[in-house]
Amino acid sequence: MIEQLNQLYEDFKAQLSEVADMQQLDNLKTHFLGKKSPMGNILRGLKDATPEQRKELGMKSNEIKNAMTNGIEEKREEMKKAEIDAKIASEWIDVTLNNTESQTAGLHPVSVVQYEIEDIFTSMGFTVLDGPHIETDHYNFEALNIPPDHPARDMQDTFYFENGAILRTHTSAIQVRGMEKIKPPFKVIGPGKVFRVERPDATHEAAFHQLEGMVVGEDINVAQLISTMKTLLSEIFKRDVDVRLRPGFFPFVEPGFELDIACQLCGGKGCSVCKHIGWIELMPCGMVHPNVLRSGGIDPEKYSGFAFGLGLDRLVMMRYKIEDIRNLHSGDLRFSGQFV
Ligand code: FA5
Repeated sequence: MIEQLNQLYEDFKAQLSEVADMQQLDNLKTHFLGKKSPMGNILRGLKDATPEQRKELGMKSNEIKNAMTNGIEEKREEMKKAEIDAKIASEWIDVTLNNTESQTAGLHPVSVVQYEIEDIFTSMGFTVLDGPHIETDHYNFEALNIPPDHPARDMQDTFYFENGAILRTHTSAIQVRGMEKIKPPFKVIGPGKVFRVERPDATHEAAFHQLEGMVVGEDINVAQLISTMKTLLSEIFKRDVDVRLRPGFFPFVEPGFELDIACQLCGGKGCSVCKHIGWIELMPCGMVHPNVLRSGGIDPEKYSGFAFGLGLDRLVMMRYKIEDIRNLHSGDLRFSGQFV
């Protein structure tokens, strides 16, 4: 009987080594350790054995049962691990590889237009300036002829830090910083993000982009301002677009103008984007106020200048016929992927 048990274990080991999947392993377990296993048949012969033989056979059969159970569990673990390894090998991805099927990355439409405008202006001899998002009251308001408590501050409410700093409300703060560094004559532009307490709608965001322009020299006049604005728009749209100029009030320019563009979504007929007016406020501008030149250390008796503040997001909307400014900041690739 001992020999039979040893032979049974040898058979078990041979069959275990052939097992290829979990189903076969379960079948093997049922066969060798189940109720109708060959071990049961062998042990049924115990009834004729002596007590010593029974003891020896009992120990041997337990030993073999344990060895079989362990063998099966080891095999099970081995197969699980092999399965995981195979999965890892088959699903391995090299994230550094270029996936030619995926969408090509590209610039955001606001950046596309901003860089185009930078090229247009640098080709006309302008220098591109930058400025901080977090500004002081001085650069954002006071040096622009907007003293504390001036009603013009209501139009540009912003976000305040405990130390008195603010998020800049317009790129005009870049003009002030520019005047400190560069002496006239000069021609500069300053693009960037600006922030306001706004209730967002189709043409208003709380964080948006502007592009400031400032030209200071001797005998700078309104005609030069208007011709610069026209050059910019014809270069950006590559065709004539209807614009209108009307008086506008900004404490830092005198005279001041509002330059509106005919709504490109409805062709000026009136729609929900232009609030049924047919025009979109795009680029206020004017002749730099003498107080602003003075606070920048420039003699207004000798020099004059013009400045403008282009609403970059709105220009992008008009150029690509985007009906809602909030799409620009949505982070939705289905939207931004259209401009690649
Ligand atoms: C200004 O910010 C002035 N600093 C512009 C300026 C510069 C005037 C130099 C004169 C000389 P205004 O608040 O109107 O002006 O904003 C300028 C442009 O930014 C608007 O015509 C519009 O195109 C855009 N804009 C203003 N508010 C928003 C907003 N909440 N969301 C998106 N675009 C806006």
